[in-house]
Amino acid sequence: MKQHRFSFIPGFLFILSLIYPANQSPVYSKHGMVVSGSRWASEAGIEILKKGGNAVDAAAAIGFALAVTYPQAGNIGGGGFMVAYTSKGESFTLDFREKAPEAAYREMYLDENGEVIENLSLFSPLAVGVPGSVDGFLKAWRDYGSGKISRREILAPAIRLAARGFPITYRFAGFLNDRREFFERDDGARSIFVRKDGRPWKAGDRLVQKDLARTLKRISRLGRDGFYTGKVAELIEKEIREGNGIMTARDLARYESKYRAPVTGTFRDLEILSMGPPSSGGALLIQMLNMLEYFRLDTLGWNSADYIHLLTEVERRAYADRAEHMGDPDYWDVPLEMLTSKTYAKSRIQDISFSRATPSSEVSAGDPTAYESRETTHFSVVDRFGNAVSVTTTLNTSFGCGIVVEGAGFFLNNEMDDFSAKPGVPNVFGLVGKEANSIQPGKRPLSSMSPTIVLKNGAPFMILGSPGGATIITTVLQCILNVVVHRMDIQEAVSAPRIHSQWLPDVIMTEPRSISKDSERILVSRGHTLAPYRWGYIGQANGILIGKDGFYGGADPRGENAAVGY
Ligand code: GLY
Repeated sequence: MKQHRFSFIPGFLFILSLIYPANQSPVYSKHGMVVSGSRWASEAGIEILKKGGNAVDAAAAIGFALAVTYPQAGNIGGGGFMVAYTSKGESFTLDFREKAPEAAYREMYLDENGEVIENLSLFSPLAVGVPGSVDGFLKAWRDYGSGKISRREILAPAIRLAARGFPITYRFAGFLNDRREFFERDDGARSIFVRKDGRPWKAGDRLVQKDLARTLKRISRLGRDGFYTGKVAELIEKEIREGNGIMTARDLARYESKYRAPVTGTFRDLEILSMGPPSSGGALLIQMLNMLEYFRLDTLGWNSADYIHLLTEVERRAYADRAEHMGDPDYWDVPLEMLTSKTYAKSRIQDISFSRATPSSEVSAGDPTAYESRETTHFSVVDRFGNAVSVTTTLNTSFGCGIVVEGAGFFLNNEMDDFSAKPGVPNVFGLVGKEANSIQPGKRPLSSMSPTIVLKNGAPFMILGSPGGATIITTVLQCILNVVVHRMDIQEAVSAPRIHSQWLPDVIMTEPRSISKDSERILVSRGHTLAPYRWGYIGQANGILIGKDGFYGGADPRGENAAVGY
């Protein structure tokens, strides 16, 4: 009998340990570079580049490999976004975000009193959005791959890793052991992620995923039909139906990823290309950079009281706009022009004072009528031909809704929690939303994922992104500022301790060692509230800097991220 006991889960588990920044140099290479959440996946990407594939081919192979070696967020049961700049000087973004099933409706997570039912949008079959990753990876490979790498070759590393298994690290073993209770709530998850003999995982154990290997082989043979129709689709539908969920095989068959125009802006002499709606990431990143451009940032020390004060003031204004104005552009008119306009940014900073924090209760969203005209994973890839690809994918929280599709071997997402279940009620990341992000059939929930490419003199200069829910955007922002303003190399930039704020709650969230006691005192005296970030670390940024002489990879030491070049 199928077992799901998610209603009893008190919350979800995230990595609590903070890994302090390592003192190491960027990884250098001349021909290609991959930085991802798993060494195995980075090596899969390099394997494809060495065969003559381009960065898009490699990105597809990395995406599938992460579904095996980084099952907490790498996925075929979730979704994500790709931002790319090609050697021909073109850019594109691909939206393979999950969609609400056709039977979804606005009040689906509310009880008879109109209150949000705890955990229903997180840990139940109703939490699952229609997955987009398989369609996205294959579409990007088909349309922008080199043409030299077959689908079979794209899937081969992932199939090998799933079928033969891979030796797990000390850290990953601990991570699985910490989540044992979570896995035991689902038969499919238990059968893969709890050791058969009941003992704890240890470093060097092989994690073999036979069912997942079979699913990947189907995709290799049949393309998207190997996932969205036939046997795998039947297994997904059965899994969802048994738990009284609403996603159907018809939803799967109808899923399509979508090319969208990148959201663009400038910061000093740099061009920013990032992901537009249904992600809020790119627009907010550009809006915050626009606001910051009006200040003399170079006179403020890294993470000084004035610097953190300014970041916080800018962040609260941008996140207030996110809550009001941002949602799936197929369903909501997002005022993108306003949000990314330098004039709007200027109007937004007029009431920033360095002597006093603006209470978030005094900050509301801008008026567009005046402007008509914890767990995700990021990887960055560059090749020797001049292509650059930035991809962020997610199941939402770690291991998604916790349900593994039995017989198919992969976790399903809980992305429906990224919708606003009820106006003003925060989601798992504390983000509030309104009508723009309400639930509708076929709609994509608003994301914060911010895969980004920074151009200098018209060519890719920095490729980066991060997991971290609401903190993704401020993580990417701080990494860019670390390089451009604080002159850090890419390794220092992704490693440096971070802070985060997001309008509501009105608090500066901190990593250990991100703020000195002196600065903390000054910030409190101005009216700020500070608190350690509740999940310990903020983001896991993976970036590449392109220099005159080659590629520099920076892998975030907060996880098992790995920069591999050749
Ligand atoms: N699931 C987190 C995000 O998309 O922002």
